[in-house]
Amino acid sequence: MSKAIEMKNVTRKFGEVIALNNVNFEIDEKKIVGLLGPNGAGKSTLMKIISTLILPSSGEVKAFGIDVIKEKNTVRNFISLVSDYTVLEDELTPYENLILFGKISNVKENLKSKALNLLEDFGLSQYKNRLTKNLSSGNKQKLNIARSLIKDPKLLLLDEPTIAIDVETSRFIREYILDQNLKNDKTILISSHYMWEVEQIASEIAILVDGKIVIQDKMINIIRDFENKISIIEIELESSDYLTNLESLKNEKNIFGLKIISPTTAIIETPLKQNHFDELLKNHNIKGSYRNMKISLEDVYSYITKGRY
Ligand SMILES: Nc1ncnc2c1ncn2[C@@H]1O[C@H](COP(=O)(O)OP(=O)(O)OP(=O)(O)O)[C@@H](O)[C@H]1O
Ligand SMILES: [Mg+2]
Repeated sequence: MSKAIEMKNVTRKFGEVIALNNVNFEIDEKKIVGLLGPNGAGKSTLMKIISTLILPSSGEVKAFGIDVIKEKNTVRNFISLVSDYTVLEDELTPYENLILFGKISNVKENLKSKALNLLEDFGLSQYKNRLTKNLSSGNKQKLNIARSLIKDPKLLLLDEPTIAIDVETSRFIREYILDQNLKNDKTILISSHYMWEVEQIASEIAILVDGKIVIQDKMINIIRDFENKISIIEIELESSDYLTNLESLKNEKNIFGLKIISPTTAIIETPLKQNHFDELLKNHNIKGSYRNMKISLEDVYSYITKGRY
């Protein structure tokens, strides 16, 4: 399988700030990869480098085997970045924006019909003749994404595409992204702070913390590995008389988290397997029943970004 993105030993500094710290990162062709990480982790910097907007301080970057630094113009023909950095021309209509961007991107064939089709796809036909500055922010974002698609890029970089976007529009954008991947074989890298969003569309996850990729794998593997290491348990006490005993678990080294929800219920995080956990409950004279909760990407993310994994 060929690589859509290959970053080798990429560092990017802004003065004293090291935004990316010796990053090695690859994406296989035709994948949808979710890029997660706290504010300031380096997600936007990484995307800007791949899309040729900024240069790395050192390291190598290739897109479909082509050097992003040396062959910027070639790469720009098949990569689009959607971010808050993308600037639409306010004084033009949505249609004119698409035509303008198509021309800048050297779209030679059927530019007009492509623009009209994208306006239709994104539900923007009715605003075709309105000035872009007068569109709502959600519609502007749809236009932003439509604009990125006019040149039919093989590689689509979406930096928080649904931030501040209403529920229906976000859903539409997600479905459109999935469709582009399925029908048009596009490779997509999407950053987001919404875990459920990434869970819905990405098959693979990369997490950036302090300018370093700390984990990259298929979502299913990440969650399974985590489940093998940690259980998140909801316990229901037989009565609130056992609450003090339950609280005493806080001092146990194998209890990573204990959150009391009510006088008879709590959530416990522990690496202990069932028999050892049962023993611990017995030793502390805690009576009740419990169940293992389903682990979400958010649980894993929270552990990883806090360096507890
Ligand atoms: N143009 C710049 N000048 C100076 N510092 C910058 C610049 N761009 C980014 N940085 C710094 O680089 C680091 C990474 O920023 P980046 O925008 O890539 O993070 P991010 O992961 O996209 O964060 P967020 O989730 O908030 O969007 C931050 O410390 C940021 O302040
Ligand atoms: Mg960002």
